[in-house]
Amino acid sequence: MIRRPRRTRRNATIRRMVRETALSVDDLVYPLFVKHGRGEREPIVSMAGHYRVSADELVKEAEEVRSLGIPAIILFGIPQRKDEMGREAYSRDGVVQRAVAAVKERIPELLVITDVCLCQYTDHGHCGIIKNNQVDNDATLEVLSRVALSHAEAGADFVAPSDMMDGRVRAIRETLESEGFKDTGILAYAVKYASSFYGPFRDAADSAPMFGDRKSYQMDTANAREAIKEALLDVEEGADIIMVKPALAYLDIIHRVRSRIELPVAAYSVSGEYAMVKAADQKGWIEGEKVMMEILLSIKRAGADLILTYFAKEGARILRDYEEP
Ligand code: PBG
Repeated sequence: MIRRPRRTRRNATIRRMVRETALSVDDLVYPLFVKHGRGEREPIVSMAGHYRVSADELVKEAEEVRSLGIPAIILFGIPQRKDEMGREAYSRDGVVQRAVAAVKERIPELLVITDVCLCQYTDHGHCGIIKNNQVDNDATLEVLSRVALSHAEAGADFVAPSDMMDGRVRAIRETLESEGFKDTGILAYAVKYASSFYGPFRDAADSAPMFGDRKSYQMDTANAREAIKEALLDVEEGADIIMVKPALAYLDIIHRVRSRIELPVAAYSVSGEYAMVKAADQKGWIEGEKVMMEILLSIKRAGADLILTYFAKEGARILRDYEEP
């Protein structure tokens, strides 16, 4: 036989040399949920190993993240009050604004990204302002811009709009520019599907819609060409990084977006992806750590430059300690 592909698989050394994709701690972003109070550390039942923490505890988490070499965190806020406008989302002393300031004060080199959305903050649980029982796109843009600005003022490095309103990247970019935050970046949830994989997150953040669903703003899970349309629009509107979400069931989308877009591409491996692995691991049905690393690598192989993942700390530890036998 002349062609024997096994020659380049014979031992660990040659495998290491011909390996096409490598996962690095530099690729990882760790999501954290922040609430009001002091000394708070409340476990999230559906997301083993994750907690809703107060700002002081968040700083400890952030220190651990930094010590593992993970370059960035993304913050989600759990407000004290909800109302029809999601007012706490843009309050100067809102839960996220305070948390950002606390982290940036203690660990300025850690990149802080903030999720910009209204669903945790509105009493109806939708990602925008409701008018005539509909999520009103243009009324929402104004509120989102205020949210993004308040995060920038608190010191966020990047704001990450996850609402899927049309035109929000432009609206936020223009607000940031005109208010002097020209260096605050936008990580756009450009391609976000109306997915059932967000279940544990909605539990964690108490953000499930009280009526209807998110299908009039988040994307139809059957659509791939539309992903390119959304990604190109956000590039045009001034996004700095384009995100695809979820990741695991959308590797084809990550690949397509990567091949059409020059900007960095991020993928969000969401709460349901994490919870499934944890649950099967706890049952002893899979080797959780190996499955985790395989999933993360597959997201990288599909074309993601960055991965937002609840596995970031575990992944970073393995990357630090691992040597192939
Ligand atoms: C807010 C938001 C959601 C997620 C990130 N930002 C929930 C949603 O759109 O319902 C999901 C993240 C996850 O499941 O890990 N809009």
